[in-house]
Amino acid sequence: MSECIKRQASLPLPEGREVYTNKVLAVVGELGLKCFVQTFGCQQNEADSERIAGMAVAMGYTLTAEPNEADLIVVNTCAVREHAEKKALSLIGQYKHCKSNKKELVIAVCGCMPSQQHRADEIKHKYPYVDFTFGTSDLYMFPELLYRRLSGAKRTFVIPEDKPPVVEDIPVVRESNYRAWVSIMYGCNNFCSYCIVPYVRGRERSRHPDAIEAEVRELIASGYKDITLLGQNVNSYGRGCDFDCDFADLLERLASIEGDYKLHFMTSHPKDATKKLVDVMARNDRIARQFHLPLQSGSNEVLDVMNRRYTAEKYLEILDYIKEKLPDVTLSTDIIVGFPGETEEDFQKTLDILSYVKYDMVFSFIYSPRSGTPAAKMENSITDEIKSDRMRRLLDLQTEIASELNAKCIDKTYRVICQGKSKNNEGMLEGRTEGNKIVLFASDTAREGDYVKVKVTKTQPYALFGEVVK
Ligand code: SAH
Ligand code: SF4
Ligand code: F3S
Repeated sequence: MSECIKRQASLPLPEGREVYTNKVLAVVGELGLKCFVQTFGCQQNEADSERIAGMAVAMGYTLTAEPNEADLIVVNTCAVREHAEKKALSLIGQYKHCKSNKKELVIAVCGCMPSQQHRADEIKHKYPYVDFTFGTSDLYMFPELLYRRLSGAKRTFVIPEDKPPVVEDIPVVRESNYRAWVSIMYGCNNFCSYCIVPYVRGRERSRHPDAIEAEVRELIASGYKDITLLGQNVNSYGRGCDFDCDFADLLERLASIEGDYKLHFMTSHPKDATKKLVDVMARNDRIARQFHLPLQSGSNEVLDVMNRRYTAEKYLEILDYIKEKLPDVTLSTDIIVGFPGETEEDFQKTLDILSYVKYDMVFSFIYSPRSGTPAAKMENSITDEIKSDRMRRLLDLQTEIASELNAKCIDKTYRVICQGKSKNNEGMLEGRTEGNKIVLFASDTAREGDYVKVKVTKTQPYALFGEVVK
C-alpha cells in the first residue's frame, strides 16, 4: 500500500517540522537508534545531507558510517546523468538484504532522483522495501514522513511542488569543522535543454540576505575558514525578491565580516555574470581567487540549442575581464561532449576555447539524455564511439594545458588549507590553495583545517608538491 502526497499546508512549516521531530524523539529517543546517510551528486546534495543528518540527530538518532548497523538509512540521490541514477538504484538494491536482516529498518530515498514521477513510480513498484521518498525542497518534511511510517502509515512518495517555500532553521550536522556549504538559493529557472535540475529542484528562490549573513557569521565565529555559497546560478540571486540585494552585493556584504577565511561560490551562469561581481572580487581579499564558469560548448550553434543564452564571444568577454581584474585567479569550467548534433567543427571550437583560456580545471561530461528534457527528444544523437573519441581528445588537451600551468607554480609559495592525509600519496598531507588546486606536502605538525604555507618544488598536471615554509 502506498500514497503519493504533496506538501501539507495545514501546519506552519518550521513548526510542523518541530512538532514531528519531537514526536519521533518521544518514540525513539531512548532506544539508541542509528542513522546512515548516503550522498550522491553535487555540493547542494552534500549540503542537504548535512541537514538530513541534523534532523536525524534532533530526532534522537546517532549517526553511523555503517549501513549494516543502521536503523534508518537515507539515500540522497542525483539525477544529472544516467550513471548517477544507476549508481543510486544499484545501492538501494543492495539495501534489500539489510531490511531482510532487520525488519524494523526504515529506508528513505530523497534528493533529485525520486522527484521525477517515473522514478518515484519505479521505486514504489520495484523497491517495495523503500519506506518513503521526498525531494530536495521537501527536506523539512523528513520528520513528518518518518513519524507517519513509524506509526504504521502507508508508504509515501512525495513529489515536490514547482514553487516550494524557502524553509529556514533546519538543524544541521556539518561534516567538516573548517569547510562549510551555505545554500543561498534553491532551484533553477534556466531550463538548459539537456538538464534535469529545473524539473527536480523547482523554480529559483533566494534566501533572505539577513538569514545568509547570520549563518555565515556563525560559521566564522565557530572557526570555519572555507565557506562556499551554493546555488545553481548564483548570479541571479535575489531576482524577483522583495529585498534589494544582488549576488555582488551579497558577496561584498559577507566579505566585510571580520575574520581569517575565504568565500567561494558556485555555480556562476555566464549569461548573468557581471563586471560588478568581478569588481567586488577584485577589491575583497576574503573572496577566493577562483572562478568556475561553465562553458558547456564553444560553438554558438550548440550553445543556442542548449538554450544557454550566451555566445562564445560574450562568454570570452566576461572571462577576459576576470583575467584582467584577477590576474592570479584559478579558472575552471564544465564541458558537455557529444550533445545532439555536435559536429566535428563544433567540437573543435570547444577545444579552441580551452586552448585560448587555459583553464586550471575542466570538468567534462559525456552527454546523457534525461527523460523529460527537450534535448532527450532530439534525433541527431552522436554515436558512443565519437563521444568517447572526443572525450579522450579533450582530456589529452586539458592534461597538456594543466601541466603547463602547474609548471609555472614551481618556486611559488601558497597558503593552503590542510585537508588531512593524502589517499594516493602515502605519508603526505593534502591541502588546497584558495583556487582549489591540490597541494601535497609533508608535515608532522599540520592538522586538518590548519592554514600552512607551502613552497612548490614539483608539479604534475593535477597536483602540486611542495615543502612547508615558515
Ligand atoms: N547549474 C550549474 C551546473 C549544474 S549540473 C550550471 O549551470 O553550470 C553540473 C554540470 O553537469 C553542468 O554544468 C553540465 O556540464 C553537466 N550536465 C548537466 N546535465 C547533463 C547531461 N544531461 N549530460 C551530461 N552532462 C550534464
Ligand atoms: Fe541545469 Fe542550466 Fe540550471 Fe545549470 S543553469 S542547473 S545546467 S538548467
Ligand atoms: Fe545531481 Fe541534483 Fe545536484 S541532479 S548534480 S544532485 S542538483
